[in-house]
Amino acid sequence: MVASRLAKRLLHYDLQTYGQYYQLLNSGQHAHEFQLMVNILTTNETYFFREPKHFSFLQDRVIKTWRGDNFRLWSAASSTGEESYSIGMLLAEGLGLRKWEVFGSDVNTEVLETARKGVYLMDRLDNMEQRYLDKYCLKGVRSQEGYFRVDEKIRSRINFEQINLKMTLPRSLGQFDVIFLRNVLIYFDTETKQEIVNRVVAALKPGGYFFISHSETLHSIKTELSMVMSSIYQKPCK
Ligand SMILES: C[S@@+](CC[C@H](N)C(=O)[O-])C[C@H]1O[C@@H](n2cnc3c(N)ncnc32)[C@H](O)[C@@H]1O
Repeated sequence: MVASRLAKRLLHYDLQTYGQYYQLLNSGQHAHEFQLMVNILTTNETYFFREPKHFSFLQDRVIKTWRGDNFRLWSAASSTGEESYSIGMLLAEGLGLRKWEVFGSDVNTEVLETARKGVYLMDRLDNMEQRYLDKYCLKGVRSQEGYFRVDEKIRSRINFEQINLKMTLPRSLGQFDVIFLRNVLIYFDTETKQEIVNRVVAALKPGGYFFISHSETLHSIKTELSMVMSSIYQKPCK
C-alpha cells in the first residue's frame, strides 16, 4: 500500500527507487514534500453519523443531561469533517444557543481544508436524518448542484486545526467534556496506541466521555477509564 501510494511521487520527481525518494525528503530542498507524503499515506474514510449508536449515546446520555456552561468536544482524527458536523448538529439540537464548541483535528492538511469548507456531495449523506438535512444543510444550486454546505450556524462553532497525535499536544488545546478518537488507533502498534491514549485522555475533563470505534479495542492499553458500554469510556470524576 505504501509503495503504490508513493509511486506517483517517484514518477513526479523522475526517481528510480524509494531510497532516492527518502533522500529527497531528507535533503531539506523540498520543504512541502513531507506533508504531501503524509497526506498521501493517511487513510481518510469517514461519513456522516458513522456508527449511529455513538450519536444516540451522545444525544441521550450526554447532551440531554449536560449542566455545565461551555460544552467542548474534540474530534481527534476528524478527517474531512463529517464526524464533527454530525456532532455539531446534535449539539445545535440539544444545546441550541447555549455555549458549545467542537474542535476537529487531523494530521492530514488536505482533509482539514475540505473540513473547513463544509461542502459535501449529496450522495455522501448515508445515515443523516432528513430533518437535519433540512435544518442544517444548504442545498447547492446551478454549478453547486449535487452538493450541500453545512449551515453557518453550525460551521461557526467548529474549528479545524492540524494536530499530530504522535506529538506533544499544544498547551492551548484545553480540556474537553467528550473526545472522539475513532478509527485511528487501528493504524498504530500497541506502544504508540498507549502513548496516544495517555496524551488524549489527559485532555479529557474528569467525568468526561471517550469514544473509540466499535472495531477498535483498548484491551492491551492501561488507562484510568472505565467502560460505560462497548467502545464508550468515562474518566473517573475526582
Ligand atoms: C479513517 S479516518 C477516521 C475519521 C473519523 N474519525 C471516523 O471515524 O469516521 C482516520 C484519520 O486519522 C488521521 N490520522 C492518522 N494518523 C494520525 C496522527 N498521527 N495524528 C492525527 N491524525 C491522524 C488520518 O489522517 C485520517 O483522516
